Amino acid sequence: LSPEEIQYLLQTVQTLKRKSHLAKQSVALKGKVLGMIFQKPSTRTRVSFEVAMYQLSGQAIYLSANELQLKRGETIADTARVLSRYVDCITARVYSHNDILELAKYATVPVINALSDYEHPCQALADIFTISEKKKNIKNLKIAYIGDGNNVAHSLALAVVKSAGYIEVATPKGYEMKKEVIELINKEAEKNKARLITTNNPVSSAKDADVIYTDVWASMGQENEHKKRLQDFKDFQINSELVKLSKKDVMIMHCLPAHRGEEITDEVIDGPNSVVWDQAENRLHIQKALLMLILMKKTSI
Ligand code: CP
Ligand code: NVA
Repeated sequence: LSPEEIQYLLQTVQTLKRKSHLAKQSVALKGKVLGMIFQKPSTRTRVSFEVAMYQLSGQAIYLSANELQLKRGETIADTARVLSRYVDCITARVYSHNDILELAKYATVPVINALSDYEHPCQALADIFTISEKKKNIKNLKIAYIGDGNNVAHSLALAVVKSAGYIEVATPKGYEMKKEVIELINKEAEKNKARLITTNNPVSSAKDADVIYTDVWASMGQENEHKKRLQDFKDFQINSELVKLSKKDVMIMHCLPAHRGEEITDEVIDGPNSVVWDQAENRLHIQKALLMLILMKKTSI
C-alpha cells in the first residue's frame, strides 16, 4: 500500500468505527463471499474477518489447509484457480510467504495476507490506527518495538515509516529484521521523512518512548526454538522496570496472543498503560474497511 492508500484506509476506519451501529446492519457486502485459508491457528484474525463479513451481510468460509485437497498435494496454483471461481476474495495465513505470492499470482480475485512468516500487514494497519486514534499524531512519537525482528516487526515498521513516523526496533543479536526488509523500510523512510533505528539495546529504545510494542519470542512454526529463545531474549522482557524508562503516558501494545511471563509481564499487560484489548478490537474495524475498499471500491456504507 502507498502512504496515501494507508491514510485513506485510516479515514475509512474512523468513519466506520464512529458509525459502528450502522456498519453492523450494513448490506455493503451482500452476496459477497470471503474464502479464508488457514495453515496456522488464529483467534483474532479469523474471528474479526468472519464477524466483519457477517456484519456487512456477506459470508466467510473458514478453510483449514488440513481439510483442503492442498493437504493431499493439490497445488496452491490450482487451489487459487478453483477458489477464484467461487469466492470474491481470499485471505490466507501461511507458513511460507511464497505461498501467499503463489496464491496471488494464480487467483483472479484479491488475496489478503492474514500472516506469513515474513509479514502481518492487517495487524500493522490496525496498529497504526490504534496509535493514531489514541495519540492523535503518529509523527511526533517515539515508537519502540522490543523483541523479535519477525513478521509483526517487519509490517509494523513499514506501516510506521509509510505514515511518516519514527520507530526503533530493538532485537537481540541474531534476531534482527531481515536485511532486505530493513533496506526497504529505510527507502520508504527517506521518501516519507520518517525514521527507523535498529539496535540491540532494549533500554535505549524504551527510554522516553511514547509506545512500547512487543510480540512473542517464538512465532508459530518456531516452537522447537522456544527454549533457546527464552535464554536469548531474557533482557528484552517488557516489565515494570523497562516501562519506567519510557514516558509516563506510554502506550503498551502487543498483537497477541501473549506469552505472559515471557515477552511481557502480567503487571504490564494488565496495567493502566496497556491498550491491548482496544488494539485487538480494532482488528475488526480495519478488516471491515479493508474488505469494503477491496470489494466495493468505495467507502460509504
Ligand atoms: N494477532 C493475531 O493475528 O492474532 P491471531 O493469531 O489470534 O489471529
Ligand atoms: N509473530 C507471531 C504473531 C502472531 C499473531 C507469529 O507469527 O506467531
